[in-house]
Amino acid sequence: MEKEIKDYLKQILSDERYNHSIKVMEKAEELAKIYGINIEMARLTGLAHDIAKEMTMEEYEEYAKSHNIKINEQDRQNTVIMHGKIGAHICKNKFNFTKEMQNAVCYHTTGRKNMSMLEKIIYVADKIEDSRQYDEVEQLRELAKKDLTETIRIIVDYNLITAINKKRAIHPLSVELRNEIILNT
Ligand SMILES: [Fe+2]
Ligand SMILES: [Fe+2]
Repeated sequence: MEKEIKDYLKQILSDERYNHSIKVMEKAEELAKIYGINIEMARLTGLAHDIAKEMTMEEYEEYAKSHNIKINEQDRQNTVIMHGKIGAHICKNKFNFTKEMQNAVCYHTTGRKNMSMLEKIIYVADKIEDSRQYDEVEQLRELAKKDLTETIRIIVDYNLITAINKKRAIHPLSVELRNEIILNT
C-alpha cells in the first residue's frame, strides 16, 4: 500500500510537496509510537494527507460534483480547506482508507473538536515535520512528544491570529477546536 501511494503521489505532486508528505509520514510514525496508535495507519495517513493539495478549485468542484460530496460555503472560501475534504475521498476511493484515516486527512487543516488520536497526530505532524522552518518549530517538536493538546492549542492560536492579520476567513471547526481545548484545560 505504501508503495502504491508513493507512486501515485510522485505523479501528481511537486517534488517539494512529495518530500513534505514523506516527512509527515515519518513524524506521524514517531508520534504514533509515543502515543500508542497503529504505526502503519499513522504512516499511510501522513503520507497521503496532502494528496489533493495541488488540484485547482475547478478540479475540486468537479470532483465534488461527480462524487456527490457536499461542499458548504465555508469550505469554498478557501482552497486550503478543500484539499482535506476532497483528499479524504480520494484516499477512500483509491486506497481504501478507513473512516478514521479519512477523517484525519479531511480535518488536517481545520482540526475539529473531539479529534481522534490519529487526527491529532496528523494535524500536528503536518506542522512540525522535519523540513518545516519557523521560529518556534523546534520547541513545538519537543512539546509534541509530551503534550499533544497544548501543541495543538499553540498551532490553532497561531493559525487563527494569522487569519485575522491577513483578513482571511476563519473556519468554524477551528474555533470549535480551540474552545474545546481552552474550556477543558
Ligand atoms: Fe495540507
Ligand atoms: Fe501538509
